[in-house]
Amino acid sequence: MASDSYDLVVIGAGPGGYVAAIRAAQLGMKVACVEKRATPGGTCLNVGCIPSKALLQSSHLYEETGHDLAAHGIAVGEVRLDLPQMMKRKDEVVGATTKGVAFLFKKNKVAAITGTARIDAPGKVAVLGGDGAVAQTLEAKSILIASGSEVMPLPGVSIDEKTIVSSTGALELAAVPRRLAVIGAGVIGLELGSVWRRLGSEVTMIEFLDRIAPGVDNEITKHFQRALEKQGLKFRLGRKVTAAEKSKDGIVVSHEAAQGGAAEQLTVDVVLVCIGRRPYVEGLGLDRLGVKLTPRGRIAVDGRFQTSVAGIYAVGDVIDGPMLAHKASEDGVACVEMLAGQKGHVDWNKVPSIVYTQPEVAWVGKTEEQLKADGVAYKVGKYPFTADPRSRANGRTDGFVKVLSDKTTDTVLGVHILGAEAGTMIAEAVLAMEYSASAEDIGRVCHAHPTVSEAMKEAALAAWDKPIHL
Ligand code: FAD
Ligand code: NAI
Repeated sequence: MASDSYDLVVIGAGPGGYVAAIRAAQLGMKVACVEKRATPGGTCLNVGCIPSKALLQSSHLYEETGHDLAAHGIAVGEVRLDLPQMMKRKDEVVGATTKGVAFLFKKNKVAAITGTARIDAPGKVAVLGGDGAVAQTLEAKSILIASGSEVMPLPGVSIDEKTIVSSTGALELAAVPRRLAVIGAGVIGLELGSVWRRLGSEVTMIEFLDRIAPGVDNEITKHFQRALEKQGLKFRLGRKVTAAEKSKDGIVVSHEAAQGGAAEQLTVDVVLVCIGRRPYVEGLGLDRLGVKLTPRGRIAVDGRFQTSVAGIYAVGDVIDGPMLAHKASEDGVACVEMLAGQKGHVDWNKVPSIVYTQPEVAWVGKTEEQLKADGVAYKVGKYPFTADPRSRANGRTDGFVKVLSDKTTDTVLGVHILGAEAGTMIAEAVLAMEYSASAEDIGRVCHAHPTVSEAMKEAALAAWDKPIHL
């Protein structure tokens, strides 16, 4: 079988792989990208970021139309849910987005190859067809693994994607479950739990830790949990699930205190398991090649994203750092720019995170808890959206902006936002931190009036000296 030769073969067409492939092609490399799914885009575009945000938007509109318009003087009649249409729209959004990636591959002359990649040796990739036989062999100066992640299984709870589902099944339920149990109050649980609660489910979230949303600044979490409880989400914190068994009344979820103790049962119609994700490396042949893993089971890479085997690189969810689409893409760009002799750059401490609930939570940099643990002397500036005129006009005053800056230098160390537009607002904080801005810098930048971004300016002024409007 004749081999095709490339400068770079990328394994996986998710946000890590497809962005790396396009950038490498732009830099003049001959590139192939091998993907085992029928469509490019990886977890994010097919079964992650994009379908979840489509459903979050639709379910938000449904809730807003049903409950929030009267205050604006808008009377509506009966609001009915058309779930098949909502799902169809979600699928169309996914379709348009994955087609966009296929178009970009063509435009940039990236060879898109469908099949499962196996690395036979540095510089040699076999592509297996659906029957498991080698359909094609590729030669490559460099190989980039961007094979992503998969759902972390929970012993005692076996996922069938119908009544016991992972996020993938939760994105395509055929009917609104009357009772939904969510195992894990992390990002997926909070987002998809919110979707189904808005559509009518009674949602109970069972979380191992004594708090929701690990990684989020504690003060933000407290307000966030209260806002979600007001919406009707129920939380059982400090509990671990030991089993989920089907019965004639539904699925019986057994859970007990995290440290152990008497079990309690909760009967529901659907269970969503979302206790984290783990790197996906099946079938790549890493053991045989001697590619080393980190203690947490991710592929170990150096500062150039090279694995322990020369010529084999890795980016995205499969390596350390936050498991986020934009982080995977930044890894990919930095990796191929370094391959092309340029100075690629990515700083995992300045990767923004967003929970797309309502209100949204967004943050970048250190939390107060991390600064305390690191022994850093810091200042805090806060500004509530209740004091912001545009938020009042919008009828969205939940939450606040919190800016943390160094006590001596005033350099911004972290920004945390709970608010309707937190996800959009955080971009300003990321840019500021990338350029090592001080709180005073943000406070002196002219922010348009009336926009919710004025709350960022006021919080920065509060950290530096004093806010004007509080
Ligand atoms: P992936 O996107 O997982 O892509 C890897 C690809 O490699 C897959 O398509 C897989 O089929 C392919 N592959 C694996 N092995 C092989 C092989 N041997 N041969 C060929 N192909 C192979 N992140 C955000 O930033 N924002 C969000 O809003 C967000 N929402 C999410 C919602 C959900 C429900 C989920 C599950 C995740 C969400 N994420 C979000 C996380 C985001 O999806 C991941 O961080 C991102 O997709 C990682 O990109 P990646 O390229 O590393 O891997
Ligand atoms: P997660 O790590 O965010 O949350 C998992 C939660 O499950 C944690 O709170 C953990 O304490 C809890 N948990 C673990 N074991 C448990 C058990 N046995 N019983 C009860 N609770 C248990 O993981 P999640 O929500 O599955 O999401 C995976 C990843 O996908 C995220 O970490 C994130 O990187 C990515 N993602 C990002 C999104 C975004 O950016 N908006 C949206 C969705 C996913």
